[in-house]
Amino acid sequence: VKHVIVLAHPRPSSFTASLARAYGATLTAMGHGVQVRDLYALGFNPVLAAGELGGAVPPEDVAREQAEIAAADAIAFFYPLWWASMPAILKGYIDRVLSCGFAYEIRAAGLHGLLRGKKGVIVTLSAAPTAILDRTGDWDAIRILQDAHIFRTCGVEIVAHEHFGEILPDLADGDAHAHLDRVRTLARTCFAAAKAS
Ligand SMILES: Cc1cc2nc3c(=O)[nH]c(=O)nc-3n(C[C@H](O)[C@H](O)[C@H](O)COP(=O)(O)O)c2cc1C
Repeated sequence: VKHVIVLAHPRPSSFTASLARAYGATLTAMGHGVQVRDLYALGFNPVLAAGELGGAVPPEDVAREQAEIAAADAIAFFYPLWWASMPAILKGYIDRVLSCGFAYEIRAAGLHGLLRGKKGVIVTLSAAPTAILDRTGDWDAIRILQDAHIFRTCGVEIVAHEHFGEILPDLADGDAHAHLDRVRTLARTCFAAAKAS
């Protein structure tokens, strides 16, 4: 199985990046292929330009990311919630890379996903406890607008969305270890039955 892990956090030392590394290392140990696309480290330009609209040939940076997605069997997004949504760099990656004609097309019956057969995993973090996201309705909004809308449009099957609440700068070691174990278990349970790459 080939995986693309898209990481959207400006700090390599962030807990978001630690979770992405633990997830990727678990898959690698299982014999899977892992490509990490660290959007800040890549200096990914998130601004969709006029010339990219209307089915134009994608710019080189977009074509490279599309080739990674096309070759992958599974795509994972790792990001912190910023204003209850994804960091702008990831939104821009989705705008530009998951483009019309690559990730989906418009048919008479509606949008048709072109990434069918691929699996999607989402891992998010927030300062707010998960119970508060539930109570405010943020969690439902995230599941509908970020997960279902984006992945469903592309035909990607969402196999898991794991959320880590109360991720604060003074995260206790014990909690950090438990969270890292949880993301390793996530990798194993989502892909245990799948053959290695
Ligand atoms: C610009 C910005 C916006 C944020 N918005 C939210 C938010 O809407 N809800 C929330 O719970 N946390 C919010 N946070 C906190 C992050 O989600 C939190 O820092 C994250 O859990 C920590 O992950 P990290 O240690 O990998 O940075 C925000 C942080 C930043 C920098």
